[in-house]
Amino acid sequence: MLKKQLDRFKRLDLIGAPTPLEKLERLSAWVGRDLYIKREDTTTLALGGNKVRKLEYLAADALAKGADTLITAGAIQSNHVRQTAALAARLGLGCVALLENPIGSEDPNYLKNGNRLLLELFDAKVELVESLDNADELLQALAVRLHASGKKPYLVPIGGSSPVGALGYVRAGFELAEQIEQTGETFAAVVTASGSAGTHSGLALALADSHPDLPVIGVTVSRSEEAQLPKVQGLAERTAELLGVALPERFKVNLWDEYYAPRYGEPNAGTLAAIKLVASQEGLLLDPVYTGKAMAGLLDGIGRQRFDDGPIIFLHTGGAPALFAYADQFAS
Ligand SMILES: Cc1ncc(COP(=O)(O)O)c(C=O)c1O
Repeated sequence: MLKKQLDRFKRLDLIGAPTPLEKLERLSAWVGRDLYIKREDTTTLALGGNKVRKLEYLAADALAKGADTLITAGAIQSNHVRQTAALAARLGLGCVALLENPIGSEDPNYLKNGNRLLLELFDAKVELVESLDNADELLQALAVRLHASGKKPYLVPIGGSSPVGALGYVRAGFELAEQIEQTGETFAAVVTASGSAGTHSGLALALADSHPDLPVIGVTVSRSEEAQLPKVQGLAERTAELLGVALPERFKVNLWDEYYAPRYGEPNAGTLAAIKLVASQEGLLLDPVYTGKAMAGLLDGIGRQRFDDGPIIFLHTGGAPALFAYADQFAS
């Protein structure tokens, strides 16, 4: 029912084939637990990542509404802004981004390298702002300014996490459900980073429908469980409403909030160790803001026996371009 409803929505096909679900052979042996990885980092647009899923629906909506400019906001090293700017370039649209410096960094790599460098190549217009605490207001004001100069802006919310954007992860959830069936395994959990919440909400919605016994655990990257829970729950409810269905009975928000300290955008020792471990065991790149924290949670969760029996799936949401902005964290 849920899956059928999804087909009613316009979508640009940016990804093509399903992203792979792979077993991490060496890391599994290292941790003594079977681990699989869903390669959302391999989506094909501009170094990949999870936002392409959301943009398939958001950009289709923007084009249907006759927009000529995508506007959005995020941190200077936002992967979301990078992918939005890349898609605007591909579609021949303008892109204006409001950027904040959430960690007050003066490191030239943070200010100019990584994702920020790529915004220059995509010709995005950047406006630096003091803070994005009132991002919706700032984006609305930007839209008014652009309208006044004759543009037709389309507002992509922070992280692409509106109900329309979350449809991308409902779709990804059903894609993963099919791949799970093909493995013949009974998995213990899916682990993902949980930030602006569209990835977590959409995925949990689809899997509550297809695999109600499989928990989707969101490792928070910026908030306590108490603050993140209403965001994930609320977005899932609004996404179900958009789809015209009730939330599946077994829908449940699972959050682990022990791994994001000291704050959003700042890695801790566990984050860096997880990045190093996965790189050295598997030749795979995680990132210092999202997936490094999520993987640190997964590894610690195994050590503390927080999972039921069975292999675990890690949803790799991308973000490796930010490694170059955090080079000094890895200096030996
Ligand atoms: C690499 C990466 N992983 C995870 C996330 C979190 O996804 P969401 O904002 O949908 O919670 C983001 C969001 O920017 C991201 O860039």
